[in-house]
Amino acid sequence: MILVVDFGGQYNQLIARRIRDLNVYCEVVPYSKALEAIKEKKPSGIVFTGGPNSVYEEGAPSIEKEIFELGIPILGLCYGMQLMSHVLGGEVKASTEREFGKTVLNISDNKIFDGIEQDSTVWMSHVDKVVELPKGFKTIAKTDNTENAAIANDEKKLYGFQFHPEVNHSEFGTEMLKNFVVNVVGEKQDWTMANYKTTLISSIREKVGDGKVLLALSGGVDSSVAAALLSEAVGENLTCILVDHGLMRKNEALEVEEAFKDSGMNFIRVDAEERFLKRLEGVTDPEDKRKAIGEEFIRVFEDEGKKIGSVDFLAQGTIYPDIIESGLGDAAVIKSHHNVGGLPSVVDFKDIVEPLRMLFKDEVRQLGRELGLKDYLVNRQPFPGPGLGIRVIGEVTKEKLDLLRDADAIFREEIAKAGLDSDINQYFAVLTNNRTVGVMGDFRTYDYTLALRAVKTTDFMTADWSRIPYEVLDKVSVRIVNEVKHINRIVYDITSKPPATIEWE
Ligand code: XMP
Repeated sequence: MILVVDFGGQYNQLIARRIRDLNVYCEVVPYSKALEAIKEKKPSGIVFTGGPNSVYEEGAPSIEKEIFELGIPILGLCYGMQLMSHVLGGEVKASTEREFGKTVLNISDNKIFDGIEQDSTVWMSHVDKVVELPKGFKTIAKTDNTENAAIANDEKKLYGFQFHPEVNHSEFGTEMLKNFVVNVVGEKQDWTMANYKTTLISSIREKVGDGKVLLALSGGVDSSVAAALLSEAVGENLTCILVDHGLMRKNEALEVEEAFKDSGMNFIRVDAEERFLKRLEGVTDPEDKRKAIGEEFIRVFEDEGKKIGSVDFLAQGTIYPDIIESGLGDAAVIKSHHNVGGLPSVVDFKDIVEPLRMLFKDEVRQLGRELGLKDYLVNRQPFPGPGLGIRVIGEVTKEKLDLLRDADAIFREEIAKAGLDSDINQYFAVLTNNRTVGVMGDFRTYDYTLALRAVKTTDFMTADWSRIPYEVLDKVSVRIVNEVKHINRIVYDITSKPPATIEWE
């Protein structure tokens, strides 16, 4: 396996993702636990990620010198390269210019650059530079701005890139990572999602032992995959609870119940609509709503858990983008995902189990297929934990939820009819809190504006708005204003992420 040592920053899991895409198993550890993890897991190679600090700042993340003496190949990226140079006796300095964006990289002959063009585009984002190399290192690539854009100590198998091979803007980034992992480290590229499933199952068993596990099953892809995985790991010690918080899409609770009730796991459906609506009375701020829904969720589980008897673990289908956007480590909080940031501090469980926390959405789907889940569940578009609570803008009421459910169902039906559902990654309706004047027959109306949202994305961290044909939008619009009372205007959201997010709240 390859171990990625994380020094902070937003996209570090991407490095792990790229390596797993090369069929090489990879895990991420925070830098503070690196030495311990290396001794325990004995990786065949190590990657140091970038990070926001300067190596000479007081309190900047550092690393034990011992790591470089273990004979394990290391690739340091950006901050990782600077830190490696600093610890091994080189010199790092702040530069007068920040180098940010696409740059042309000019390489020398080295096995880490096999098959890569002499001049290619790479992505740079740094202020500091390595100005003096540690003993035994040489420069193997430069840019106009940076003399030591890549460095190597071939004998000790230590490499450093000032640029970021993990981002798509680096033209041969994947090839470079592959060269490190295969040419330098000697990995065989034989890891698959099937192996990972086995690894996950044994680590769940190790953590949980004979303990009882309670899982929040929403019927979305993540919680369904988590349910199938945990069920395989701990069998009847798992109880899945579907909390119908009244914030689900039309008929959804029923559909989920149908899909799981005969699957062999303990399945309980709790009708908690009233409780949630009460808790949401008067709550209008998006973060307050997310936290309220998250908290109420946990309370319902605690109550159900008590009915079942003693429960030791709460399992959740949290995936990597949920964690990163809720502000892991130094990353900024964008939204509190109810299954991460909204957790109340007092929880009646021993611990939380989140087996999917290292995976991106498409990896979760792949794992789901590996676990034999039905296509219907695996291919579902994502649905946020707080449900329609964050798609009704402003105060959430039953009336508004029902309007939104009907409108959303029409939108989904028409997208499916037009054969666009496999092309668009997420699409839904949002009930804005805005009312406008309209005319119906000979009468004036003063009703809600509904927004339609549809995006194309692979990782849900960035997304482009989907170019749905006008005819389809027209059909949706006509149907909704005719069939759903109190909606008299439809708008289509044409912003990408960033700067917008996918959900409105
Ligand atoms: P945003 O709106 O942050 O959404 O661009 C990115 C993806 O995450 C989903 N989402 C959530 N999923 N709990 C979840 O499990 C949440 O609290 C949550 N909020 C947003 C959103 O639907 C999109 O797919």
